[in-house]
Amino acid sequence: MAKITASVYTSHVPAIGAALDHGKIDEPYWQKVLAGYEFGKQWIRENKPDVIFLVYNDHASAFSLELIPTFALGTAAEFAIADEGWGPRPVPKVIGHPELAAHIAQSAIQDDFDLTLANRMDVDHGLTVPLSLIFGQPEAWPCKVIPFAVNVVQYPVPSGRRCFALGQAIRKAVESYDEDLKVQIWGTGGMSHQLQGARAGLINREWDNRFLDRLIEDPAVLAQMPHIDYVREAGSEGIELVMWLIARGAMADVAGGPIPTVRHRFYHVPASNTAVGHLILENQA
Ligand code: DHB
Ligand code: FE
Repeated sequence: MAKITASVYTSHVPAIGAALDHGKIDEPYWQKVLAGYEFGKQWIRENKPDVIFLVYNDHASAFSLELIPTFALGTAAEFAIADEGWGPRPVPKVIGHPELAAHIAQSAIQDDFDLTLANRMDVDHGLTVPLSLIFGQPEAWPCKVIPFAVNVVQYPVPSGRRCFALGQAIRKAVESYDEDLKVQIWGTGGMSHQLQGARAGLINREWDNRFLDRLIEDPAVLAQMPHIDYVREAGSEGIELVMWLIARGAMADVAGGPIPTVRHRFYHVPASNTAVGHLILENQA
């Protein structure tokens, strides 16, 4: 059967992608950010997944105000690269896993999560920057990726509670798939940042670190936090952090299993306008 082996959490700051793509990573500013990913790069070589279920948000690259799915599951065989801002990054296209994605759709929808199925969905920095941070700059991504886009851009956005429950449904779906696959679930976006308005540039180190503590130790209580608390404390784009609760909800302890091992924890300010957080939690074998 397929197994969720680990969850990985990371910010997706687009300027990191631009720094990688334009040869700026030797600059001290970016070295301080990338240092936090050295562990993960080594770890993934020793813990290579067959598939990553990658929870991210689209930034008006695949969707627009014309169509706003709350949860869009990528069921296609492959996904083209797109982006706003700096434009599409020169990174490999993403190869999906349509069979596992279809199984997750069947299971989660029958568990009352009304997912949108995306048979075509271009993916932006929300998905590609996390892949680059952990895999570097390969010719092809070393595993399959099922993109899962969450609307955290256009209100109303889903609650942390809903995201945490959805993570549990995704775990149940993955672990009932009849093939021996190692599956990781990644939760991306955050941490505190606000890109516009009077509070542009807001960063809240203390709140971010409390969020990491609670995500590790007490995710069920953290999941009850209302969205307005994210926005007030972590800025308008801090709401991206609800996506981390999907990944956390898919870990074994939430379903009554052993608590995960914290393999790595990193926090750094600033990268562009954003606080960078990164966590690796491993399910016990
Ligand atoms: C920045 C961060 C984001 O999450 C994003 O989607 C765009 C820009 C920033 O830090 O500039
Ligand atoms: Fe973002």
